[in-house]
Amino acid sequence: MNQNEIQSKKDLINKYDIPAPRYTSYPTVPYWTDNPTTEDWIASLNRTLEDSKTSLSAYFHIPFCETLCTFCGCNTSITKNHALVESPYLDALEKEINYYLSSVPHLKSSPVNEVHLGGGTPTYFSDENMERFLSMIHKLLHLDQDANLSIEVDPRRTRISQLEILYKYGFKRISLGVQDFDEEVQRLVNRIQPFEVTKKITESSRQIGFDSVNFDLIYGLPRQNLASMKKSIDLTISLRPDRIAFYSYAHVPWIKSSQRLFTEDDLPKANEKRELYEEGRKLLEANGYREIGMDHFALENDGLWKALENGKLHRNFMGYTEKYSDILLGFGTSAISESPDCFHQNEKLEIKYRKLISDGAIPTLRGHKLNEKDRYRKKLILEFMTTWKVFMPEDLREDAKEYLSDMEEDGLVEWDENILRITELGKPFLRIACTVFDEKYRASKPSKNLFSKAL
Ligand SMILES: C[S@@+](CC[C@H](N)C(=O)[O-])C[C@H]1O[C@@H](n2cnc3c(N)ncnc32)[C@H](O)[C@@H]1O
Ligand code: SF4
Repeated sequence: MNQNEIQSKKDLINKYDIPAPRYTSYPTVPYWTDNPTTEDWIASLNRTLEDSKTSLSAYFHIPFCETLCTFCGCNTSITKNHALVESPYLDALEKEINYYLSSVPHLKSSPVNEVHLGGGTPTYFSDENMERFLSMIHKLLHLDQDANLSIEVDPRRTRISQLEILYKYGFKRISLGVQDFDEEVQRLVNRIQPFEVTKKITESSRQIGFDSVNFDLIYGLPRQNLASMKKSIDLTISLRPDRIAFYSYAHVPWIKSSQRLFTEDDLPKANEKRELYEEGRKLLEANGYREIGMDHFALENDGLWKALENGKLHRNFMGYTEKYSDILLGFGTSAISESPDCFHQNEKLEIKYRKLISDGAIPTLRGHKLNEKDRYRKKLILEFMTTWKVFMPEDLREDAKEYLSDMEEDGLVEWDENILRITELGKPFLRIACTVFDEKYRASKPSKNLFSKAL
């Protein structure tokens, strides 16, 4: 690449490295305005479930971690005192499910097609409590015969006996938190996880019978460079995970103060970060992985690849999923639920969450009632996020052509008659292109501290 090309690439990156939502919902959480009461939320579920064809999925949030990784943007509660938190939290989850079952009668008979356990660290539980948790899910929810059951696993905080329990209860997919194999990066983010640990858990999971293993990797962490990224990706490829979430590091120190524990000078600059992503993408694609959506790669045998091929890829608060669901029910601290006309989030603080539950309430923190316009735009964003293209309806066409003219000129999007498509060059900027539909974002000119940057 000559000097002019390098400069124009840098200009492009600076131009589009702006804060933007990741669109796991629309409207995005900072723009939720029309708060539902708990009664509104329950009424929405009852209304939706009157149709017997309604599809349903469930998410359980387990906030506990033994130690804090300083980059982490998740809702966590750090404690090594397992005895203090495990049983009370499971008691609360059980009450929460039962509350829903008593206020939403159709729930008992509505088949759940996906269950995901996330966190925090769902593998934090002892074997005994994991058994209690999984049998509770099976007993209280009506799981579809072909339901996809998946869990986020911290390789440092699991063991063979626990993986066997998960498998016994029908879990076939696991997602391992890896982030980066480089020792210095691991030290800086307070997460020492030798390659051998990840290797052992990956191989044991396959021996036990799990049929999809995902790795979470992050680019943009402190002191990552091209050489270390190449090494981490090569090590990843040597273990051949079926899918890879290759996340852009979300730097949000105004929300997560632990991200101030490393110095910002250690973070790769925007153009360096982009090069890390490109290096990763190049190596993954050369080894049989396909970029199936924002931040996600999969091998051909994997369900996400197939879902993209069959036009079945879906996206919700859990990220990309293979099965469409009308309702996502989120249980546990900070969990977000959605129905076709409502979003609902649980209280984030564990103590407050448990108190609300013990008072016999749904632990509502906030939510949003979607109007017709919201639903229209949500559908378009979902189409764009899950297919890399979208049919632009006539009423939005003129505005979209003008709004995206710069991106078009820079070769990031292209028009094929009335279909808007992201180009190969534009793939890392998908979320910026999606803002075309986000009238709330566009109207508010978001301050710099609302979303992480696109790159
Ligand atoms: C709940 S954790 C995964 C399970 C387990 N706690 C672990 O760390 O192994 C979810 C994932 O979110 C990603 N993540 C967390 N904070 C992030 C951030 N600031 N930017 C990008 N990705 C982040 C990490 O890749 C992490 O594996
Ligand atoms: S990355 Fe995982 S283990 Fe680390 S603090 Fe976040 S949730 Fe906990």
